[in-house]
Amino acid sequence: MLHNQRIVIIGGSSGIGLETAKKAVVLGAQVIIASRSEEKLYKAKELLGSQAQVYVLDTTEEDEVQTFFKKVGSYEHLVVSAAETSGGSFLQSETKQARNLFENKFWGQYHAAKYGAHTLSPNGSITLFSGVVGYKPTVGSAALGAVNAAISNFGQTLALELAPIRVNIVSPGIIDTPARSKMTEEARNQFYEKVGSKLPVQRVGLAEDVAQSVLYLIQNSFVTGTVLHVDGGHRLT
Ligand SMILES: NC(=O)c1ccc[n+]([C@@H]2O[C@H](COP(=O)([O-])OP(=O)(O)OC[C@H]3O[C@@H](n4cnc5c(N)ncnc54)[C@H](OP(=O)(O)O)[C@@H]3O)[C@@H](O)[C@H]2O)c1
Repeated sequence: MLHNQRIVIIGGSSGIGLETAKKAVVLGAQVIIASRSEEKLYKAKELLGSQAQVYVLDTTEEDEVQTFFKKVGSYEHLVVSAAETSGGSFLQSETKQARNLFENKFWGQYHAAKYGAHTLSPNGSITLFSGVVGYKPTVGSAALGAVNAAISNFGQTLALELAPIRVNIVSPGIIDTPARSKMTEEARNQFYEKVGSKLPVQRVGLAEDVAQSVLYLIQNSFVTGTVLHVDGGHRLT
């Protein structure tokens, strides 16, 4: 149980982060969720109730991240699911797009771990987010694959450097979350059907599948430096 534990979830206003926050609240935790959009945060707060606090935060802004953790004070666990990702042909994409991807998903998590570690309980944990294309090179995902691989190595190194704080990495496969809300519903369903039918588990993932794994990493005090693949076997296909 997580009674009276304070869990910071950056990216907790949507998808996997929001689902993790919901489960943590059921287990008795106080959750502090942060992301850029006030609107998304207040919708999430309505769902989560009085055990949730919300903060507007952009992880790409180093000073903002530092100030955020000063305001939060001491807490037990940090989860950083915040990311905005993109893909496209390596030769045809602008270099700027790849830089933005690193800025958001790599440097965002770097800032969060760096400033979040100071006030984190020594018995606590950090959970970072990689992703399947870091392990299964995929056409159109050169930069995202590189970011994901970098995050896994970064997190494992922190497991040594920040010990006894535990640091783990979750690597989701294709998960049905609002991350693909820019696609039409039809295109999204076709994509999920196509990907899901090729996986050993015969379906794409749900935010809940990954949230369960985050809660496991938070609660198991013997697990650190682990990359937990929650991808329905995608890496093996
Ligand atoms: N869904 C998948 O298929 C999949 C696959 C592999 C890996 N992953 C990884 O899993 C993690 C969670 O993804 P998801 O599918 O749950 O995504 P999501 O539903 O789009 O949620 C992402 C969250 O991050 C926040 N965010 C984005 N950029 C931010 C920034 N710079 N500062 C603060 N907050 C920021 C968003 O809120 P605001 O817009 O309000 O900032 C939102 O709350 C990500 O690391 C993603 O790369 C997902």
